[in-house]
Amino acid sequence: MTASYKIEIQQTGDSFDCAADDAILRGGQRAGLGLSYDCNVGGCGSCKFEVVEGEIENMWEDAPGLNPRDVKRGKLLACQCRPKSDAVIKMITMDEFVPQTNPQRFAGKLEMIRDLTSDIREFRFKSANGFSSFQPGQYALLNLPGVEGGRAYSMSNIGNDDGSWEFIIRLVPDGKGTNALFKLNEGDEIEIDGPYGMAYLRTDAPRDIVCIGGGSGLAPMLSIARGVAAADGMDDVKVHLFYGARGPQDLCGEEELKALGQSADRFIFYPAVSIPEMAEEAGWDGFVGFVHEFVRESIGEDKLPNHEIYTCGPPPMINAVMQMAAVDAKVPPLQIHYDSFL
Ligand SMILES: Cc1cc2nc3c(=O)[nH]c(=O)nc-3n(C[C@H](O)[C@H](O)[C@H](O)COP(=O)(O)OP(=O)(O)OC[C@H]3O[C@@H](n4cnc5c(N)ncnc54)[C@H](O)[C@@H]3O)c2cc1C
Ligand code: FES
Repeated sequence: MTASYKIEIQQTGDSFDCAADDAILRGGQRAGLGLSYDCNVGGCGSCKFEVVEGEIENMWEDAPGLNPRDVKRGKLLACQCRPKSDAVIKMITMDEFVPQTNPQRFAGKLEMIRDLTSDIREFRFKSANGFSSFQPGQYALLNLPGVEGGRAYSMSNIGNDDGSWEFIIRLVPDGKGTNALFKLNEGDEIEIDGPYGMAYLRTDAPRDIVCIGGGSGLAPMLSIARGVAAADGMDDVKVHLFYGARGPQDLCGEEELKALGQSADRFIFYPAVSIPEMAEEAGWDGFVGFVHEFVRESIGEDKLPNHEIYTCGPPPMINAVMQMAAVDAKVPPLQIHYDSFL
């Protein structure tokens, strides 16, 4: 049996048991505590902490989430450190990070693989213990054979009773995780750890929804749309789903949105193509440009504050969306929910 250690948070006096092979952040989340985090993969720095007492192992010394000043001050990332003894730590905790469902680690069997474009695939895993409780828009960590550290992927489906976890994943040339994943066959098993993430569907928000996804960011946007279709009390909410790809052949998601059986003026798909040469070559007569510009043009800056905004994708796209929504259109920060795919 794996040893476990007691971790105490100095500021609050809260404590939890963390398995010796688990990250401090995830051990705390499993115990239902609101330890601060965002990406879970060492990239953002939201889970910084300091060790007051005890021995900690750093699994990824060069993680980009720490700058040289942090390192000098002895800061560490809770998503990249595991305990080697009981410990007392200093770390930010907040109610907003308290998990809606405490994350679990479980075996997931790959049940289905489907090509959506030349480099984007849909994967469906089935959890061995039947667990599949998560909010639309959340993500899980996939631990892949021979790959150091879990990789974060947003679910494209919604929580269910049959143990299904679906993902839409883009192959990254030279990416260790995606190359290992794209080599898996149906029937193979990996470890899944989730759910995590704060960019989940707010079912109590009365506003229409704008979803903005780019490249690999389709999955959580579909999950949000599926969540709205399934939620009680959201029948009057419209979903505007904007999806940006390089060329017309890289677009996907429209069929999946249509399959929800909602009227075409309630769930609306807005495809954008960013590379003019690819658009021209394919005879594309839709929008050409960055996806956030399509949002500005179609919804209008003046109307954007009347919407709840969900966005996921590469960091430059998220920065552009934040500039357009939070700065230019002055959408209140609590109405914007995002995951940057670091
Ligand atoms: C919240 C979130 C949700 C995401 N959802 C999706 C999605 O739905 N679809 C999709 O296609 N992509 C998604 N991504 C991106 C995805 O997690 C990967 O970054 C991407 O697939 C590239 O992975 P790779 O292993 O192929 O590339 P690599 O370049 O090998 O790895 C990059 C990723 O691995 C982490 N990493 C690298 N080395 C280590 C190490 N030694 N220890 C721990 N971590 C390490 C990095 O922080 C980075 O996240 C998401 C990212 C985040 C943060
Ligand atoms: S949550 Fe640990 S670095 Fe992002």
